[in-house]
Amino acid sequence: MNVLRNLFALSTAALMLTACGEKKTVKADYDVIPKPLATTNVAGEPFLLSARTRIVYPAGNTKLHQNADFLASYVQQATGYAPVVTDNAKEKANGNIVLSIDPAVQNPEGYILQVNSDGISLKASTEAGIFYGIQTLRKSIPAKAENSAIEMAPVTIEDAPRFSYRGVHFDVGRHYFSVDFVKKFIDYLALHNQNRLHWHLTEDQGWRLEIKKYPQLTEVGSKRKHTVIGQNTGEYDGKPYGGYYTQDQVREIVAYAADRNIIVIPEIDLPGHMLGALAAYPQYGCTGGPYEVEATWGVFDDVICAGNEDAMLFLEDVLDEVVDLFPSEYIHIGGDECPKTRWEKCPKCQDRIKKEKLNVKNGHSPEENLQSYVIRRMERHLNGKGRQIIGWDETLEGGLAPNATVMAWRGMNEGVTAANMGHDVIMTPTSFCYFDYYQTADTSEEPLAIGGYLPLSRVYEFEPVPSNISDDKKHHIIGCQANLWTEYMPTEQQVEYMLMPRLAAMSEVQWSDASSRDYAQFLKRLPNLIAMYDREGVNYGKHIFDVSVNYTANTDKGVLEVELSSLNPEDQIRYTLDGSAPSAASALYTAPLEISEDAKLRSAVIRATGASRTLSQDVQISKSSLKPVQSVSEPSKSYAYNGITSLVDGLKGGRNYKTGRWIGFVGKDVEMVIDMRGETEISNAKVSALVEKGDWIMGATG
Ligand code: ACM
Ligand code: ZN
Repeated sequence: MNVLRNLFALSTAALMLTACGEKKTVKADYDVIPKPLATTNVAGEPFLLSARTRIVYPAGNTKLHQNADFLASYVQQATGYAPVVTDNAKEKANGNIVLSIDPAVQNPEGYILQVNSDGISLKASTEAGIFYGIQTLRKSIPAKAENSAIEMAPVTIEDAPRFSYRGVHFDVGRHYFSVDFVKKFIDYLALHNQNRLHWHLTEDQGWRLEIKKYPQLTEVGSKRKHTVIGQNTGEYDGKPYGGYYTQDQVREIVAYAADRNIIVIPEIDLPGHMLGALAAYPQYGCTGGPYEVEATWGVFDDVICAGNEDAMLFLEDVLDEVVDLFPSEYIHIGGDECPKTRWEKCPKCQDRIKKEKLNVKNGHSPEENLQSYVIRRMERHLNGKGRQIIGWDETLEGGLAPNATVMAWRGMNEGVTAANMGHDVIMTPTSFCYFDYYQTADTSEEPLAIGGYLPLSRVYEFEPVPSNISDDKKHHIIGCQANLWTEYMPTEQQVEYMLMPRLAAMSEVQWSDASSRDYAQFLKRLPNLIAMYDREGVNYGKHIFDVSVNYTANTDKGVLEVELSSLNPEDQIRYTLDGSAPSAASALYTAPLEISEDAKLRSAVIRATGASRTLSQDVQISKSSLKPVQSVSEPSKSYAYNGITSLVDGLKGGRNYKTGRWIGFVGKDVEMVIDMRGETEISNAKVSALVEKGDWIMGATG
């Protein structure tokens, strides 16, 4: 009897703790990613979001009905309950979430979110704006709030994106990804406020789009007999590989994306990167083939024959079906990495050059002008169907029609040149936007990637509007995007790993006001987004949980300053200098270290859940290390990194020069003066040079 009474008392207490049936209450946090334009705390009582909350949308607005359903499902992902969705206007006054269209909100993707004790009002001038307000609301709710009511402090958030083009490029040519995964990918884009999916559908290694008029494109062109192992090792995996999207599947994906305010921009990469097509229709190549769907990675000489009229008509036919499938105003026609080797020798191509008078001297070779002929011809064809083109920055070579948009990938300067010529530009330079690059300097424990070095912090530093562009041309920079080339991403898990959390950093570059960007603050806002990734089982990169390090060679003091940090300031960072593995018993990091002798630094964050990955750095001190140094000849701007002191900092460069451990000189002798601070006996002097022929980096001669 006693026991029963106690149980009863307990359950009554439990009921009294909850306002509306949930077991507990947790607080919303409006510090989301990407950071909204203006968040103003308001005095007053909080609003309690619970299973009794309704989401009210205007009767007859099917798109807002769908948005309300999205919000209900997002709340359910976090809490387990889905608020009821209704168009009953009477519910507006009852402490609910009210979605409404308000033409006074200026930016078509902007919104105003107001929370007070009476409820939540979300207004925008378009359904897209409401969608982004919903994304902010969803990210404000703690990711794991099972059976909880959400206490939402009164607030007004007025938000709008900085750029109108916010995209991610996804290469499904090198590796094919299922329709379900492409949809999941689109969900990831929506979570990060993206509005474009640049879908790279055709490649040397596989043609992935069904074209009814040319069935061999997928029958033959989507399949390769095997795939090279590693970085073009010459060994193959022995497994046939293939996959493509039917036109019905494409329509399904386009609609799925549109529901989430994402426009799918298809890319048919022409006239290079076409071995998938040529394997299927060899008559459209200069030599006539035979060709094979490529099984290695790189840039290949066999391209579409620009002198063959049938090949041009073939491309136009393909684009006709593309236009029917994709409502996007912009169609990407590639134009990158098209070697001219075959065209130089092909009678048909040379004939076209003569007939079209492409051998004019305009600073470009006749074959570059021939490429421009192909691009302009395809552009004219698409313009005739009411569409515009996007091309990679090589399309500038030889001239481009004025309304073409340029995607600058080789560098920011290509984008500046295009903007100065009056083209709209999407910035996607390798140095900040190539998410196929490694995200950590120590790649010993990383899955194989193409190379490069693009940590989260560097993505965050990206400024898409460079200072060397004049004010009257800035408006041509319409946005930026992350590029995901998938040579080294054979699985969905690997795609997720390379995409997140770097997409979180990119989303803030794309969306948030430039003046509000602050990396330390961003890291503080990241944990709830990470918790969402965890909840959804995303295989994101975990590097943020490792020790971060900053080295400064202080040549005045003759020391290497080593600053260690981690995501959570409460984390305990442990380190050793003798190469032994750091443990809970190792020295606790409390202030920057000063190293002036040989050391083997090892460091890790020791958490209750286990240790982070270990940071490993050997420091090798020679007589010249940490001595003042001056360069007589300046390093080349593109390879200057942290400047001349990196040559005396005691830190050796590895194979990957993009980590900034090397500096490069172009066209001049390397001359520098090291102040040894007194007479010093030297028995030998050593200088190292890196050779990376693929990147045109050659060794030094003495
Ligand atoms: C590119 O990365 N080839 C555009
Ligand atoms: Zn040809």
